[in-house]
Amino acid sequence: MLPTIAWEGDAIVMVDQRKLPATEKYVTCKTVTVVAKAITTMVIRGAPAIGVCAAMGLALGAARSKATGTRQFAAEFQKNCDLLAATRPTAVNLFWAIEGMKQSFAEGAHAGESVDQLKARLRHTADRIHDDDVASCRAIGRHGAAVVPAEACVLTHCNAGALATAGYGTALGVIRGAVECGKKVAVLADETRPFLQGARLTAWELMKDGIDTTVITDNMAGALMRTGTIDLVVVGADRIAANGDTANKIGTYSVAVLAKAHGIPFYVAAPWSTIDLGTPDGSTIPIEERNAREVTHVGSTQVAPTGARVRNPSFDVTPARYITAIITERGIHRAPFDASLAGQA
Ligand code: MRU
Repeated sequence: MLPTIAWEGDAIVMVDQRKLPATEKYVTCKTVTVVAKAITTMVIRGAPAIGVCAAMGLALGAARSKATGTRQFAAEFQKNCDLLAATRPTAVNLFWAIEGMKQSFAEGAHAGESVDQLKARLRHTADRIHDDDVASCRAIGRHGAAVVPAEACVLTHCNAGALATAGYGTALGVIRGAVECGKKVAVLADETRPFLQGARLTAWELMKDGIDTTVITDNMAGALMRTGTIDLVVVGADRIAANGDTANKIGTYSVAVLAKAHGIPFYVAAPWSTIDLGTPDGSTIPIEERNAREVTHVGSTQVAPTGARVRNPSFDVTPARYITAIITERGIHRAPFDASLAGQA
């Protein structure tokens, strides 16, 4: 499997997820401004991946700094943090990673480290955030495999795979974990309009792994639940509030309600960096509204009348009561989530 994001010398290289599956094109980022643009324009996307990308972007910005004194270096670092924090609002992993880098910087500054020492420390912290994310996904896969029956048809929404993380994936980590245990898993991938992360990215990476995958349009999930085709649902998350309310790709809420109506278990898989215990419930999670063109067009083809009014909320919030369990690297957390999450913090 190709790495989602990696160092190439002191530049950052990432696969351009807007172009997949038609083309495997790579984008090289040599400045923090280019890194920020890559996040905003969805060259890289997925909550854990954008957190890792921001951390690496801060290390890149630091490495390229010409500052001679720590005061100027600190001012540049803060500016870069602000730039990256303004890229996308919903996934808390972005802010978690920036906070981790700030803490590392503060520790170094407190210890009186030189600019060069601070640069080395920031690179080290970013690398740790990257590697920890892969390790978390693998642990999610190991825990999550337990909830997958020996033979199962699993529905997933959006892309919560290797491409959305530093590697292996969260929801797709659960699927990979089950397959690695010898379970017979067939995956239904919701296409996930408007950006088509399911059809383009989930299908692409699962097929590369030889996992049985079928793409459906989003409006087919209910009918397939009704006919007994789907055994369980597993999705990723962009932000999980203290009470378990979960923000994830638009359409997740509809799938959760359908799953509840049909008695089908609905699992959320996410690293601990997605848990936002400072947000009591889903009502205050900021929901990104993206541009109208994603809705009026499919690829370069216009599918809505010119001038049509459009809404494009990129995420929705699934209330905790629809969620069977939240799977993190720390284990399987069940309702009441405020207690089960706080107990693991
Ligand atoms: O807009 P995107 O593609 O960044 O949205 C991604 C999702 O909603 C994913 O499901 C979520 O980030 C979890 S990724 C492990």
